[in-house]
Amino acid sequence: MPLKKISSVSLLLIFGFYYETAKSQFCGCSPVLCCSMYGYCGFTEGYCGSGCKEGPCRITKIVTQKFFDGIISNASNGCAGKKFYTRDSFIEAARTNLEFNTSVTRLEIATMFAHFTYETQHFCKIEEVNGSSYDYCDENNLQYPCAQGKKYYGRGPMQLSWNYNYGSCGQSLGLDLLREPELVGSNPTVAFRASLWFWMNNVRPVLDQGFVATIKAINSLELSSEDQSAVSARVEYYTNYCKQLGVDPGIIDLPSRLTVFTLKNKCSHTVWAATLAGRGPRLGGGGFKLTSGASQKLQAPAGWSGRFWARTGCKFDASGNGRCITGDCGGLRCNGGAVPPVTLAEFTLVGDGGKDFYDVSLVDGYNVKLGIRPYGGYGDCRYAGCITDLNANCPNELKVMGPQNNVVACKSACAVFNTDQYCCRGAFNTPETCPPTNYSRIFKEACPIAYSYAYDDQTNTFTCSRANYEITFCP
Ligand SMILES: *[C@@H]1O[C@H](CO)[C@@H](O)[C@H](O)[C@H]1NC(C)=O
Ligand SMILES: *[C@@H]1O[C@H](CO)[C@@H](O)[C@H](O)[C@H]1NC(C)=O
Ligand SMILES: *[C@@H]1O[C@H](CO)[C@@H](O)[C@H](O)[C@H]1NC(C)=O
Ligand SMILES: *[C@@H]1O[C@H](CO)[C@@H](O)[C@H](O)[C@H]1NC(C)=O
Repeated sequence: MPLKKISSVSLLLIFGFYYETAKSQFCGCSPVLCCSMYGYCGFTEGYCGSGCKEGPCRITKIVTQKFFDGIISNASNGCAGKKFYTRDSFIEAARTNLEFNTSVTRLEIATMFAHFTYETQHFCKIEEVNGSSYDYCDENNLQYPCAQGKKYYGRGPMQLSWNYNYGSCGQSLGLDLLREPELVGSNPTVAFRASLWFWMNNVRPVLDQGFVATIKAINSLELSSEDQSAVSARVEYYTNYCKQLGVDPGIIDLPSRLTVFTLKNKCSHTVWAATLAGRGPRLGGGGFKLTSGASQKLQAPAGWSGRFWARTGCKFDASGNGRCITGDCGGLRCNGGAVPPVTLAEFTLVGDGGKDFYDVSLVDGYNVKLGIRPYGGYGDCRYAGCITDLNANCPNELKVMGPQNNVVACKSACAVFNTDQYCCRGAFNTPETCPPTNYSRIFKEACPIAYSYAYDDQTNTFTCSRANYEITFCP
């Protein structure tokens, strides 16, 4: 009997818990009330304290010591900011800004600290590097004239800069920051107060437009820059802090951009780069010569897919007609795909989930070493490549000999034996029925971060967002 009673009580508790979490999806309290972790509206500690989801949550319960330390611990011990910024100085600054402290949300803190983290490199920097060598004095601003000998370079968590910002911010805080801009870099509470001033004037107004709008408000040039590493870093911090604070980051709707491919020839000999688009424009005219040490940049729009490879031993006439010993594609400017064997760099830009997909494939054999290095992007952006000379390890039956009787390429077992087993056809046309063979294993051992055969481990396709790519022949 007692047993039964206990169980019915716990059943009620479980029911109550589910009921409350379900209801939390519909919180939407009036702006002066907090939304509790269970989705109820109120204004006491139970609503505005730990777990508060929306409304004027207690800032001390959002920016905990642990949260702050998790960021600043990433700064190395030599950093000036490590002995400067403290969680308490942030809280103190927040308390002096009533508009901020009565309306701040978890999402806003995630956004704000993502930008602080980027601007200061995890609270390492107090001042802009080499700041005094730049001129941040707008002489045309008569309202906030520059004081003699004073420099208005970036200082504090939002890197406040320019005389007009120092002047206007100082006026709002009741400090003469035009005469004493150094205060922003010498007193941590002033540093945070100045950044909150900037925030409330420039960033808070666009907060409800999403994270991208906040980047635009802080530094709009970053979004259109070829190098997306600033945007990528801000997005990574933001998604990380949203996770830590238990809030949904929402859709991060970054504007579409061109991806830059830099093709580099590090081989000791000339190669003729080749490109083939599966979707989107033909890049680089379909192919071009790259002498040893040369490089060329190409740009592709979002949604582009295609491949790159190197041709060797080519002879073209003045109008681009001719042949190559490896990787031939019907002329200097390719008329189609490559004659195998050839090492391929394959891409799909801004595919599923907005990510780029890329890999190095030996499915059509191998001719030269090839590496793909993503840079400036975010996500799990890894190096892909085949950086071992497979021609030197090629089994006799797969070798392709050149005119000088040297090995110039290594065929796939499928190309040589043309059996269902090696080509993953017929009864072998699934990943389960087409396991690695003694030949694909040789490719795999030499080049573990490339595709060795049609059904090689899917983990060889890498993803990255908003990156540019360096494709090196003979890395
Ligand atoms: C800082 O963070 C990065 C990734 O965000 C990590 O790779 C690095 O190891 C961290 N450094 C320290 C000192 O914690
Ligand atoms: C705002 O700051 C005041 C002190 O100025 C403090 O008493 C109050 O609790 C703070 N409000 C919130 C929501 O943190
Ligand atoms: C700062 O100046 C030094 C010396 O002039 C220079 O070596 C360094 O690259 C500069 N750093 C930046 C980030 O501009
Ligand atoms: C691979 O296996 C086939 C069939 O067993 C054999 O004929 C061939 O010599 C093997 N090749 C290598 C490189 O081990």
